[in-house]
Amino acid sequence: MNAKKVIIDCDPGIDDALALMLALSSPELDVLGITIVSGNVSADKGVNNALKILKWMNRTDIPVYLGERLPLVREYVNAEDTHGEDGLGESGYESPDDLSYHTDAVSFLSQSLLNAASSGDFISIIALGPMTNIARLIQTCPESLCGLSELVSMGGNYKSHGNCSPVAEYNYWCDPHAARLVYEAFETNPLLSGKPIHMVGLDVTRKIVLTPNLLEYICQISPEVGEHIRRITRFYFDFHWKQEQVIGCVINDPLAIAYFIDRSLCHGFLTYTTVETEGLCMGQTIVDAFDFWKKKKNSIVLTHTDAFRFMCFFIGRICHKDSSQMEPVLRQIMEVRP
Ligand code: RIB
Ligand code: CA
Repeated sequence: MNAKKVIIDCDPGIDDALALMLALSSPELDVLGITIVSGNVSADKGVNNALKILKWMNRTDIPVYLGERLPLVREYVNAEDTHGEDGLGESGYESPDDLSYHTDAVSFLSQSLLNAASSGDFISIIALGPMTNIARLIQTCPESLCGLSELVSMGGNYKSHGNCSPVAEYNYWCDPHAARLVYEAFETNPLLSGKPIHMVGLDVTRKIVLTPNLLEYICQISPEVGEHIRRITRFYFDFHWKQEQVIGCVINDPLAIAYFIDRSLCHGFLTYTTVETEGLCMGQTIVDAFDFWKKKKNSIVLTHTDAFRFMCFFIGRICHKDSSQMEPVLRQIMEVRP
């Protein structure tokens, strides 16, 4: 099986960390690099966190690139209230001063895509944070998009309520101008014709809740993996209880990785999407499901997922176990009938 070439653009971030653990435990992916954007925490902290994650995954061979520190237009607002000041749940991992990183993520993205275009071995981007780097790529080197295979974006929301305003999801709210520019490019740029953005939004990710019992199960079957997850999610659990009276934590980003690998995990519909950039509803995802505007369909908005199948996939991969062996216990934990 030929692994799919991907670049993961992220803002680690607790759920970004879980997504990277999943990606690096999946043989279907050839992770060419990790590009960092300001989001949950500043890009500088995000680079540090990506290096910490690569260290505990023993994958310091994967290059990390510092990307955009500020949104295109609006002021930068972090999510340290959710992810902790360090961005990994105040988990106290040592700063990886022995590891280096690259600067200029956007140049890495454009050069990688241009090389892919000439070799014909196209690359996909899985965006797990605000889309500032992707927007800058489109602004500075639109011709590189001919080397893009697919863009999967964790972000946005269709019918689900927002998570940082009544109507807006954080990644698209943090940099709404970038999100709008990217969706517009997928509407107008002929190099992207027939390649809609796969929007893995809150409508599906809200179904993916890491509960204390699921965490305990991970710790039992894979203590080392479980310890990392317990360490970085404690803060996140507390936030979810205070914010939404949820016991556990919604892990958004790993679903985007899992969906990229196994498309049967989610389904949705082809439509036109854009993002509001101003005013009260700034960051709101506008999905023209009834085709009022007769615009080119630039996105696949995912609306349904199977949380049980995702958890079997996710836990099986990160714990390097046969997920079919886990089903009976996971059915009991998640109260899912056979
Ligand atoms: O709204 C959830 C998204 O915003 C996730 O990607 C989380 O990591 C933050 O980036
Ligand atoms: Ca993220």
